[in-house]
Amino acid sequence: MDEMLPSLPEPFRIKMVERIRLHPREVREKLIREAGYNVFMLRAEDVFIDLLTDSGTSAMSDEQWAGMIKTRQAYAGSESFYSLEKAIKDIFGFKYFVPVHQGRAAENILFSTMVSPGCYVPNNMHFDTTEANVLLRGGIPVNLVVEEAYDTQKDLPFKGNMDVEKLERFIKEKTPEKIPLIMLTITNNSAGGQPVSMQNIREVSEIARKYGIPFFIDACRFAENCYFIKMREEGYRNKSIKEIAREIFSYADGCTFSGKKEALTNIGGFLCTNIEELYEKFRNLAIIIEGFITYGGLACRELEAMAIGLYEAIDEEYQAYRHRQVEYFASLLRDGGVPIVEPPGGHAVYIDAKKFLPHIPPEQFPGQALVIQLYIEAGVRAVELGSSCFGKIDDTTGKFVPARMELVRLSIPRRVYTDNHLKYVAESLIRLYQKRDQIKGLKRVYAPKLLGHFTARFEPVN
Ligand code: F0G
Repeated sequence: MDEMLPSLPEPFRIKMVERIRLHPREVREKLIREAGYNVFMLRAEDVFIDLLTDSGTSAMSDEQWAGMIKTRQAYAGSESFYSLEKAIKDIFGFKYFVPVHQGRAAENILFSTMVSPGCYVPNNMHFDTTEANVLLRGGIPVNLVVEEAYDTQKDLPFKGNMDVEKLERFIKEKTPEKIPLIMLTITNNSAGGQPVSMQNIREVSEIARKYGIPFFIDACRFAENCYFIKMREEGYRNKSIKEIAREIFSYADGCTFSGKKEALTNIGGFLCTNIEELYEKFRNLAIIIEGFITYGGLACRELEAMAIGLYEAIDEEYQAYRHRQVEYFASLLRDGGVPIVEPPGGHAVYIDAKKFLPHIPPEQFPGQALVIQLYIEAGVRAVELGSSCFGKIDDTTGKFVPARMELVRLSIPRRVYTDNHLKYVAESLIRLYQKRDQIKGLKRVYAPKLLGHFTARFEPVN
């Protein structure tokens, strides 16, 4: 699709390495059984290649480490707070921000301030923590992504877009008073890491303004989204990622951000806004639950690492390499016949587990079954984004309502794995695909109501 994607190698050299080990198959079988067939319960050292998440798993640069050592630790007024403030003003353009320890803390502060019981929060698609944070305040999270997002084989440039007609209809039906804010997640993590177009961001913003509803962006993977806009949307090829980012955020009233993704750090995040009275509320709550506003639940060195990492994330050569690596991995899987979500996303390749394992019904968690088999087969850890993560128990009937899609995400940590690691993963998955008929479903024997997939336990179905 992106015919002009430059074919660059890694724009870095490797200065430090970490040993990884592959246990024998019998050991992997025993470990996953003991983990209740839930990869979140495995020890990281027992994983050979870890594609569980791209969050908090980046390899930091020499510049980031140097900045962390150099900066001063202080309760109030640390210089790293000011470095971060400068970077946020420069790249995002928002007037106010509060640092927080990670993205979901920003969500907590945002929704605690704005959402009251019975309100609706529309989003193209909520991520699991966003959804849980809305629910925790008694709000109702609503996904209004374009219908094509649910068709894993449809190859469209901006499958993460909000369906703006649906959004406007929804606002009229529920009335603006019942909608305290509109959100837009860039890129759309829950459905393939798909980008949102600049045109769509502009249109959502226009609707939000028309009805007087604040508009916030979940900006976790903003730079990858900017690069997609640059490559796929008319009129952006000659703009820098920073210029594209500035335009995106100029349409919004604020954003939540997890530094664990595109500030290339292992922890951190922030909440931004241009609305002064909201900022005051955010700040006061942040002090109670995260810490003073110049450190936000972090050591000051983490703020410094974010300030530096944000610039590394918007580096054109870095983004070109990143997108090329994801595309390379996707092409190996595609060529091997594995049903992936098309087109591949910015931070991960997703497998359509419904197509991979058509003989396993949603009640037996085909995505989770595939994740488990991949660990047993190759020591690779992926994550399920299907009925284990997004399925619901209906409050009135007590019945299980499966998710619309059964996806398995192979997230690519930033600057961590080489193409060879990914080739090994692709070959393992292709081998599994060839013997897919032998893969059996799972029975869920335990799961808490909110974010239950993290601690759920399963048993094989006989
Ligand atoms: N929003 C999106 C779109 C996310 O993907 C995440 C985290 C968050 C918010 C919350 O950020 O983890 O810093 O609290 N996603 C991770 C993942 C966990 O694996 O995709 P956080």
